[in-house]
Amino acid sequence: MVKATSIILMQEAKSIRDVDIRNKRILIRVDFNVPMDRDFNISDDTRMREALPTINYCIDSEAKSVVLVSHLGRPKSRSTDFSLKHVIKRLERLLNKSIYFADSIESAKAQQDSNQNQIILLENIRFYEGETNNDELLSKKLADLCDVYVNDAFGTSHRAHASTYGVAKFASQKVAGILLKKEIDSFAKVMHNPLRPLLLIVGGSKVSSKLSLLQNVLDVVDKIIIGGAMSNTFLKALGYDMQKSLVEDNLIHDAIRILELAKEKKVKIYLPVDIVSTDSIDMPKDIKITPSQDIPDNLIAVDIGPASVKLFSEVVTASQTIIWNGPLGVYEIHQFSRGTFNIANAIANTYAFSFIGGGDTADAIDKAGQRDNMSFISTGGGASLELLEGNILPAFEVLDKR
Ligand code: 3PG
Repeated sequence: MVKATSIILMQEAKSIRDVDIRNKRILIRVDFNVPMDRDFNISDDTRMREALPTINYCIDSEAKSVVLVSHLGRPKSRSTDFSLKHVIKRLERLLNKSIYFADSIESAKAQQDSNQNQIILLENIRFYEGETNNDELLSKKLADLCDVYVNDAFGTSHRAHASTYGVAKFASQKVAGILLKKEIDSFAKVMHNPLRPLLLIVGGSKVSSKLSLLQNVLDVVDKIIIGGAMSNTFLKALGYDMQKSLVEDNLIHDAIRILELAKEKKVKIYLPVDIVSTDSIDMPKDIKITPSQDIPDNLIAVDIGPASVKLFSEVVTASQTIIWNGPLGVYEIHQFSRGTFNIANAIANTYAFSFIGGGDTADAIDKAGQRDNMSFISTGGGASLELLEGNILPAFEVLDKR
């Protein structure tokens, strides 16, 4: 069950607005883990834009210096492919300021000591081995860079790493940035006395990754739509032959249990009534639309069909609050994107409060051209999923309380 108390606990984190930062050295943990093409052109800078209010707040409040710390990707060792140098130009353009790039903590410290009113971007913090294992020494070195530690990296707030967790043990003041606050307050809005009916739309490829989410929300939501490959396991649990579709056979029992529990709790679950299937996802020669129980021999389910779109759209239209986590088909491929895009359009046409999980769901909403029509799109895929599962995120745990 999503506990109201755990959300309130996270909301109690002290904000950067609650402390005096004038003339102070500030370290902001941001999440600049942005997607790039192979020439290192940033294809979506939303996370950088979302970090601007906190950075600008520090500049406007006359902080002495601002050190920005982020990771990029999951590097095994130091490598230019994962260098944060690739984000500097964009950041300078967004802030309209020049940035000093520090390739080590020592160089950041030296620069910080030499000047006033400056912004320093530290090289990928995951180039330090101690980052992901929350090393004390690295945590302390980071804390030594600041008078006030600010966490504004919602996308990484589910990680207990040195720069998101350990650092707080040594920092004298540790507070939430403006984005971190905005994310948790939007989530609270959905979970505390939401307007009803409250609908959860859940998709993506695996039941296993969303099992605890489904179990946790049964006490909170009124209706659940299940689509994407994860609905295959539920349809198989109902006795349908899913042919070559991705099914997690070991979770069929859990799927049955969730369907039973939902019935007990009077939560209505909607599954696709028709399916788009194909012989090959990458090079489709044969594409069929059939009722879910009639998928042709050897085909793979790749999207919800038009009857499911109609049914799901009606459920969406009748809802007052909508949470969406996970696409409903292989939306990256044009022929299999219609289900996901049509549901994005249906949500855009409601007056409901829509809370969109980050990651793939946010990307799908962008591709559907509906970003501006959603109430709130989280910058964290994994982090927002953990929130929905009812977990307290480590990054919030260690911040000062109001
Ligand atoms: C993300 O992209 O979800 C965040 O930046 C966290 O990245 P991670 O999963 O590599 O920790």
